[in-house]
Amino acid sequence: MKGIILAAGKGTRLYPITHSVCKPLLPVYDKPMVYYPLALLLEMGIRDILIIVPPDEQFQFESLLGRGESFGANISYIKQFDRRGIADAFILGEEFIGGERVCLALGDNIFFGAGLREKLVQAKASRSGATVFGCYMQDPRPFGVVEFDAGGRVISLEEKPQNPKSNYIVPGLYFYDNRVVEIAKHIKPSARGELEITSVNNVYLERGELSVVTLEKEITWFDSGNASSLLDAACAIRDYRRKTGEQVGCLEQIAYRNGLITKQKLLEVAEKIKMSDYGKFLMDYALSEK
Ligand code: G1P
Repeated sequence: MKGIILAAGKGTRLYPITHSVCKPLLPVYDKPMVYYPLALLLEMGIRDILIIVPPDEQFQFESLLGRGESFGANISYIKQFDRRGIADAFILGEEFIGGERVCLALGDNIFFGAGLREKLVQAKASRSGATVFGCYMQDPRPFGVVEFDAGGRVISLEEKPQNPKSNYIVPGLYFYDNRVVEIAKHIKPSARGELEITSVNNVYLERGELSVVTLEKEITWFDSGNASSLLDAACAIRDYRRKTGEQVGCLEQIAYRNGLITKQKLLEVAEKIKMSDYGKFLMDYALSEK
C-alpha cells in the first residue's frame, strides 16, 4: 500500500501565522504538524510516501524530512499549484500510486491514543473498496458527516451539512483500492469548487463498498486547522506525554518498532538531537532496547 500526505494547505484560517510558514510545518507541541500523519503511515509499515506540498515550500519540507532516510521511509514530493480539493491528491498521485492501494492522510489531522494501532492495521488490511473512520463530535457541521441506520450500516455521507444527520464525522485518514484514481477523475467539483473527498466516499457507498470503522473515545482526534484546535492539540499531546511518559508521533521510534530502521540508525538520529526532549526520549528508548 502506498501513502499520500496532503500537506498543500496554506492554512488561511491561521493567518497571520501562516503568511510565511505553511500550516503542516507549524509546531504542534514539540514537533512539526506533518510528523503526526507521517507517524500514522509508518505505524502501518507504509514506507513509500508522497507528500503533496505548496508550490513554494518543497525546500522546507525537504530540509525537515529529506527523503525519509532517518525513519526508513522513501519520500517523494509533488507540488499542488491550484487548490482543487482533497480528491485531487489521487489525480496528482496517479503515477506514484501505480497499481496499488493507497492510504491518504490529511496534513493537519492528528490521532493518538490506546488501541489506535489495531484500528489502523485493521483498516489497512481490507483488500478492496474504501475504509474510513467515524469519530464522535459535539459539533460535526464543519466536517464530513456519516449517518448510520439502526443496525449500524452507513446510509449517507454529507460534506459540511447545515443540519447534520449524526454526530459522527469522517476524519482525514482514508484507505482505498486502486479504483480511487479513476473515481477522483470523474467526480464533479462541489459548490465551493473543490473535488470533495466526500464525493469519492459517496461513490464507494453507492457501490456498497464503503466501510466505516468507528473510533472509541480513547482515541483522540484533532483537525488542527484553526488557532483553537491547534492549541488544543498541542496541549493534549503535552498532557499525554506527561501522563504516560510516551511520545505521540515520534517517527524514529515508530520506524524502529516496525522494523523500518536498525538500532544503529536510531542511536545515530538520537545522538544528533539529544539536546531536545524529543531527542532525549529517543536516546533513552534506544538504550532501553536490547
Ligand atoms: C476536510 C474534509 C472533511 C473532513 C475533514 C477532516 O475538511 O472535506 O470531510 O471531515 O477534512 O479534517 P476541510 O479541511 O476541507 O474543511
